[in-house]
Amino acid sequence: MKLLVTGGAGFIGSNFIRYWLERYPNDQITNLDKLTYAGHLSSTKDFEKNINYKFVQGDICDSEVVNSLIKDTDIVVNFAAESHVDRSIVGPKDFLNTNVIGTQVLLDASLKHNIKRFHHISTDEVFGALNLESKDKFNENTVYNPRSPYSASKAASDHIVRAYFHTYGLPVTISNCANNYGPYQDPEKFFARSITNLIEGKEVFIYGDGKYVRDWLYVEDHCSAIDLIINKGKIGETYMVGGLTEDISNEEIAKLMVSYFKKDESYLKYGKDRLGHDRRYAVDWSKIKSELGWEPKHDFQSWLTKTIEWYKENEWWWKPLKDQAEELYKKTGQV
Ligand code: NAD
Ligand code: DAU
Repeated sequence: MKLLVTGGAGFIGSNFIRYWLERYPNDQITNLDKLTYAGHLSSTKDFEKNINYKFVQGDICDSEVVNSLIKDTDIVVNFAAESHVDRSIVGPKDFLNTNVIGTQVLLDASLKHNIKRFHHISTDEVFGALNLESKDKFNENTVYNPRSPYSASKAASDHIVRAYFHTYGLPVTISNCANNYGPYQDPEKFFARSITNLIEGKEVFIYGDGKYVRDWLYVEDHCSAIDLIINKGKIGETYMVGGLTEDISNEEIAKLMVSYFKKDESYLKYGKDRLGHDRRYAVDWSKIKSELGWEPKHDFQSWLTKTIEWYKENEWWWKPLKDQAEELYKKTGQV
């Protein structure tokens, strides 16, 4: 099989390529990545010399480069996106260009070249926010209600992917996943920012009251879900992918991290909240479990610890990215 992975120099995309090359050593992967501030060739270093792997620097909005690659592709896996909510609040335009127009350019080329599958990576954020008091979870039938420029652009991309299925018969699948954590996550995201702050002897910065809830999934479990969907998923279907955490708040996660470093709660710094901050996400992943047999294999406590250890052992990877991440927060006043 020949795969075109877009955004493979980012957090989840690079973990996915590593995962796929290990499990399917005869497949060929081309990674198309623009190398924005979030794309790092250091994340693909360990497999960059694999003879079945090729990197192309380019933009998914550029139909010439996209067509030249897709004409020789069986499966497109679309990770490429502007992915950070805080950046979308500072400047939404790139989010619309990449997440909406870029996806449409990929879909057009996929249709033209008759590819076997277009798998679109999406997010649980397209469904909006749940109440802290409720036990509700997002599922495949939840009505879209995005509330940030990021989630609105991802929602638009999901709709256009489905439109290409219904209108033109393009063989698509979509996954809407919860928050990922693990190695190679940019230190501007909560997990990696908090861990790398603590390694540097600084506090964890907590938005608002810290009582915001996300559904956390170790990144390799996301990769195994995508694998199953590509291999066994039903064309035209959407699959929710979520983790094993039951309503853990940012504050509770920060406390676990602080206690790993044997620090006290003076290392929790509460400050300016995110505009329009979604209170709670929770994902019902019973469909992918019952239909495809997927479930997460990595429990939160152990893999939180292993993730912290990875950042401790791989300063070479995140140190050069830390200043850039903190520049953003100086602008937003979240330092
Ligand atoms: P990331 O920001 O770490 O990586 C995005 C990658 O896309 C980068 O390598 C960047 O250079 C590349 N890119 C951006 N614009 C591009 C363009 N125009 N052309 C080509 N490449 C471009 O993101 P991530 O956290 O790895 O997320 C990957 C995907 O998964 C995104 O679609 C995101 O919406 C989705 N997702 C992320 C999470 C999460 O918790 N991180 C959860 C659910 C879904
Ligand atoms: O739910 C899936 C989404 O998860 C993905 O679609 C996005 O691409 C991904 O970035 C992530 O979005 P979040 O906004 O949930 O992730 P982030 O790491 O930015 O923030 C997680 C929570 O932590 C959120 O409630 C905001 C809070 N936060 C964040 C940072 C950076 C803090 O309290 N302090 C921080 O320093």
